[in-house]
Amino acid sequence: MDQLTRKGIWNGIVREFSAFMPEFVDESVVTLGEGNTPLVEAVNMKDVFGGIRVFLKLEGLNPTGSFKDRGMTFAVTKAKEAGATAVICASTGNTSASASAYAAKAGMAAYVLVPEGSVALGKLSQAMMHGAKVLEIAGNFDEALEIVKQIAENYPVTMVNSLNPYRIQGQKSAAFEVCEHLGHAPTYHFLPVGNAGNITAYWMGYKEYKEAGLISSLPKMMGFQAAGAAPIVLGHTVEDPQTIATAIKIGKPASLEGAIAARDESGGVIEMVTDDEILAAYRLVAAREGVFCEPASAASVAGVIKMRESGMLNDGDTVVCTLTGHGLKDPDTAMEVSVQPLKVPADMAKIVEVMEL
Ligand code: F0G
Repeated sequence: MDQLTRKGIWNGIVREFSAFMPEFVDESVVTLGEGNTPLVEAVNMKDVFGGIRVFLKLEGLNPTGSFKDRGMTFAVTKAKEAGATAVICASTGNTSASASAYAAKAGMAAYVLVPEGSVALGKLSQAMMHGAKVLEIAGNFDEALEIVKQIAENYPVTMVNSLNPYRIQGQKSAAFEVCEHLGHAPTYHFLPVGNAGNITAYWMGYKEYKEAGLISSLPKMMGFQAAGAAPIVLGHTVEDPQTIATAIKIGKPASLEGAIAARDESGGVIEMVTDDEILAAYRLVAAREGVFCEPASAASVAGVIKMRESGMLNDGDTVVCTLTGHGLKDPDTAMEVSVQPLKVPADMAKIVEVMEL
């Protein structure tokens, strides 16, 4: 007889966490198997982190390569349930990639508005491959989102930006997984902040697990914006946001209130890191931990480094960093900041010489 101990296929976050989700019709579920992403301890960076234990939540391992899939499965499921035939979103790239994939799975049309020239190559290629109508606007993300809101109000298309409440409901599942993998809540949870939906979602998830008696403490929520796109830190809208981390190049976050509540209720902070700090962290996790994330994701690690230096974190603290998207999303930035390949002749002796063995 077979001695298998497998529990079967992972059913995606809507079904796996159904007890904590708003009601849905099972036949309507649109899933690509999202969620259940690894939580990996950063064991090679003791010189940087000292005695704090840092765990990386690898959200780039979701089906379309970012955390957006957790929210998109639920938003598209509910759209299907309501009989929608098309979805629309504004995006810095990952939301559009995810919306396009889940719409394809659901047999729906997808319309995605992206800021021309500010979307990483991998993300754009995903939306195009999944057959979305990709509209590059001569404007920034904030302008695109305003237009999308108006279209969704007046035409028969469902908006799947994080203003759609099912997005946040789905994304909170990442906090559940962190608790289950650690066996408790972390002391601090660090993540990049752009439109501010994800920090809102994690905080909701942690609070729900605490209310259910599954965890006994809550983490402090630590959000990090890019210095050139830091409206929450500055306390006002940024008209022309700028950062190499295009995913979080946002000047007017839609979930501003949720982010502020997460910060204040948890006793955390929302701070900013420079592009140089982001790139240093981006390279460090790739070189030391074998984890290739996209630049925006590294804002969370840059945040840990900054807070460690400021003396806020103590030895023994458990810190989780969400690495929100996969490094392959943005090959151009990776190529720019890396050592270039060496051109060699097809000659073993010469190659060995170059290898300096
Ligand atoms: N990290 C990545 C890789 C992202 O794509 C985003 C947001 C964030 C962090 C910030 O998350 O908006 O919930 O605060 N990307 C959106 C998009 C805006 O259109 O793909 P947030």
